[in-house]
Amino acid sequence: MALLEIENLVVEFQTSTGPFRAVDGVSLKVDAGEVLAIVGESGSGKSVSMLAAMGLLPWTAKVTADRMVFDGQNLLGMSAAKRREIIGKDMSMIFQEPIASLNPCFTVGFQIEEVLRIHLGLDKAARRKRAIELFQAVGIPDPAERLGHFPHQMSGGQCQRVMIAIAIACNPKLLIADEPTTALDVTIQKQILDLLMRLQTEHRMGLIMITHNMGVVAETADRVIVQYKGRKMEEADVLSLFEAPKSDYTRALLAALPDNATGDRLPTIGELFNPNKTVEGAA
Ligand SMILES: Nc1ncnc2c1ncn2[C@@H]1O[C@H](COP(=O)(O)OP(=O)(O)OP(=O)(O)O)[C@@H](O)[C@H]1O
Ligand SMILES: [Mg+2]
Repeated sequence: MALLEIENLVVEFQTSTGPFRAVDGVSLKVDAGEVLAIVGESGSGKSVSMLAAMGLLPWTAKVTADRMVFDGQNLLGMSAAKRREIIGKDMSMIFQEPIASLNPCFTVGFQIEEVLRIHLGLDKAARRKRAIELFQAVGIPDPAERLGHFPHQMSGGQCQRVMIAIAIACNPKLLIADEPTTALDVTIQKQILDLLMRLQTEHRMGLIMITHNMGVVAETADRVIVQYKGRKMEEADVLSLFEAPKSDYTRALLAALPDNATGDRLPTIGELFNPNKTVEGAA
């Protein structure tokens, strides 16, 4: 049985100009110990589809699916109380906007210790010890002192690392990492990716990695989903995707990489891909 299974997910936002379909029939599966990458240009519905799975979209979003099951539990129609038990513990997410996701009114130490208190029931001393360990793991210097800081006293990259520490605090069965390393410099990026991959192998954690970085995809993913305008254009194991991409859109995405581009200027996806043409291999 897959760890997460989603069939035909549709997300529609109510907007002042009428309904807007951000996700249009996406299906996916992730097994324990597997890394699934989701790639696709900005606005293709990557974050929205995963926020829908987490149950974290605002009320203006109408979410429907034929099936949405996590670890044997039906997420569709699940009570808010039951979701709160799962979210942040067995299924957690590194959000794309780290600063907006932290509460400005509380110290980062309080925020990570709350997760450990609520989900794992650790006492004060054990919480502090684990929080320090987690801050160390994500490369936050002087972790004991940092626990007493508020988000506004930290840089964007540091907030992102706090978010990552919170997301992995309870050793989740499934981690959704939404552009987890974009605000970080390359050495920290590598440390974070190594840490996520270690968790994935040691705890058989399922990992959904949303990224624009095809280098990260090549290094980490087992399978890749390519999304475009809320639809799945292609799904393939990582080798096949790079060696023999099926859809024109994936070919355009790969051709737009600095290493593959020819000439002085990088082509845009728009120049390389005409959505009005029929796409072979579209899912
Ligand atoms: N709360 C909302 N209300 C209305 N539209 C929204 C809302 N949130 C997202 N959208 C729209 O849904 C579409 C998909 O957004 P989403 O954030 O999933 O894109 P993405 O693929 O994650 O892009 P990026 O790579 O830039 O993070 C976009 O057109 C976005 O404007
Ligand atoms: Mg996004």
